[in-house]
Amino acid sequence: MRIAIAITLLALGAVLPAAMAQEGDVQALIEQRHQEMKANGGAMKQLGGIFRGDAPYDRDAVIKAAGILSKHSGTDSAALFPDNSLEHSNSDARIEIADNRKRFEQIFSDLNAGSKELADLARSDGSDKELRALFSKVAKTCSACHTDFRAKN
Ligand code: HEC
Repeated sequence: MRIAIAITLLALGAVLPAAMAQEGDVQALIEQRHQEMKANGGAMKQLGGIFRGDAPYDRDAVIKAAGILSKHSGTDSAALFPDNSLEHSNSDARIEIADNRKRFEQIFSDLNAGSKELADLARSDGSDKELRALFSKVAKTCSACHTDFRAKN
């Protein structure tokens, strides 16, 4: 009996810190993706102001904001959403991501490609019309993903 308890305690001692370490990693990923998404939100707000005409067209600002979006997208960003971090307290990432990885990753790579294209177009003095069209294509990647994979607040 005593041995069984000792073994159980030993087993718990080994498992608990591992589980806690894992939970710490998950929290760090959640924190990181929140920061990235907030940065994306700031970049889109700035671009939205420019393309709606509320703020003057500033080529360098467009290039910089598009650079923020391309940094926070693609496969690196998709990797911040492992299965054990979904449907988690203090996260709005839905469990549906686990069953639709390909689509989830595809939208992140569309955002990555679109934002790089936007920066290139701004660098090469693309027309207002072209820039605006590309901006709205990029904006659609945000809402496409949020509609399916982010819990409604
Ligand atoms: C491929 C999916 C995907 C794409 C693309 C995407 N998001 Fe998100 N976004 C999410 C998910 C999932 C969450 C919820 C994350 C969480 O709570 O852990 C989120 C959360 C957010 C948040 C809230 C962050 C917080 O602190 O709670 C903001 C703001 C945001 N996204 C902005 C954007 C903008 C702007 C874009 C486009 C430039 C974008 N996102 C593109 C999936 C995506």
